[in-house]
Amino acid sequence: MKIIGINASPRKKANTQTLIEAALAGAAEKGAETRLVNLRELKINGCLGCEGCKKQLGKCVQPDDLTPLLQEMTAFDAIVLGTPVYWYHVSAQFKMLVDRLYSFFELGADPQTGAQTIKSAFPGGKKLLLVVSRGDDEPSPMYGQFYKHLDEWLNIVPFALGAKHFECLHQYGAHLERKSAAGDADLLQKARTAGAKLVGK
Ligand SMILES: Cc1cc2nc3c(=O)[nH]c(=O)nc-3n(C[C@H](O)[C@H](O)[C@H](O)COP(=O)(O)O)c2cc1C
Repeated sequence: MKIIGINASPRKKANTQTLIEAALAGAAEKGAETRLVNLRELKINGCLGCEGCKKQLGKCVQPDDLTPLLQEMTAFDAIVLGTPVYWYHVSAQFKMLVDRLYSFFELGADPQTGAQTIKSAFPGGKKLLLVVSRGDDEPSPMYGQFYKHLDEWLNIVPFALGAKHFECLHQYGAHLERKSAAGDADLLQKARTAGAKLVGK
């Protein structure tokens, strides 16, 4: 069983990375082979909307580091994706990754009904763990409606990957303290348990 963790926090060894590493450690204890990728170390771009991928579905045409990573993701049994909350949404790095999953998608129309059809060339059926670290406490003191939007939007990620198992682990109240997760034994244990659940059927 092979599991990839992808960290979309621009901060090195901060909360998101700590929680992804704990999840990968939990999976490794169950015998999984794991790998961590930090998007901050890669040269990555946003989707250009060029539709070049529609000529060869599943192959983004951009010559950056995200194109091979997207290909590599197809070969893993489970995926751990982590993002900090930035402005009530995911980080720019995380959004770039999700936008580029468009390269696997083919939008069409049912010839009979005209209804929109969506096919994906991304091999579905993987297990997915999302890790989301935010500064605010839960419930949020302010702007709760924006978090409602974020929590709803996060469901697009298992859809985009065709995941068969989806869990989201939230860290609340990290403020801007990068070692907050590292000092939270309960949260680290939750991350390890969530990672262990990725192993097996
Ligand atoms: C640009 C920026 C925007 C942020 N926006 C929010 C926000 O909208 N809500 C929130 O709870 N925390 C926000 N934070 C705090 C981070 O989500 C929090 O520090 C998180 O733990 C960072 O994850 P990391 O340690 O993995 O980098 C923001 C931080 C930055 C730098």
